[in-house]
Amino acid sequence: MRFPDNAKGAKQIGTVIKRTMGGKSRPKKKIAVFVGSLRKESFNRKMAMTLIALVPDSLNLEIGGLPVYNEDLETSPPAAWTQFRQRLLGFDGVLFVTPEYNRSVPTVPKKAIDVGSRPYGKSVWDGIPGTVMTVSPGAIGGFGANRHLRQSLVFLNVPAMQRPEAYMGNAAGLFDERGNLVGPAKEFAAKYIQAFAAWAETNSSVTNSIEKTR
Ligand SMILES: Cc1cc2nc3c(=O)[nH]c(=O)nc-3n(C[C@H](O)[C@H](O)[C@H](O)COP(=O)(O)O)c2cc1C
Repeated sequence: MRFPDNAKGAKQIGTVIKRTMGGKSRPKKKIAVFVGSLRKESFNRKMAMTLIALVPDSLNLEIGGLPVYNEDLETSPPAAWTQFRQRLLGFDGVLFVTPEYNRSVPTVPKKAIDVGSRPYGKSVWDGIPGTVMTVSPGAIGGFGANRHLRQSLVFLNVPAMQRPEAYMGNAAGLFDERGNLVGPAKEFAAKYIQAFAAWAETNSSVTNSIEKTR
């Protein structure tokens, strides 16, 4: 999949961070991007790939293979949980791009939320700046899932970007036949990810109890 405007988008992100830091150069923030759908032709995956292309240091973590959370397993956690928790500690921000299932959060991102949140007191989410974009073929753009996911982020002490909000409705019309984001949605995505870069920079000083043990 190709995204011809990547270079331009990357430059814009760099500019935003530099300005936020008063001209001093600092390492770019590393953002973990979670895709809430496993579907091959997922609109959310296409959207996430666009956003990832705009933030070169970000990474698309595959969360589909995570075993469902079960407290009984914490005495000897599955390797996939341990790896997931360890890996997330290396990130400065989290971006969820997810569909809505039955007016709420689908299993895939919820599993990641739950696994990362335990054992109690050792949540890997604590203090990491985040945001949620929902993408749906429906008219209301996954509003329910977006709000439900944000509810968990409040509890997990993830400082979630308030605006711009991102409820991307009528998803079938947002992409061309090659899977590229087109039209006003593409402009919005660029502005959105720039806003999140600034948000991650500003909020990276929020106390992260995990950071202290790194
Ligand atoms: C179990 C299930 C429940 C769904 N519930 C909703 C819903 O509540 N709201 C909505 O807008 N779309 C709903 N959809 C439709 C999804 O938004 C649509 O399948 C979408 O394309 C999934 O995202 P993806 O393209 O990234 O895979 C549902 C789909 C499934 C499979």
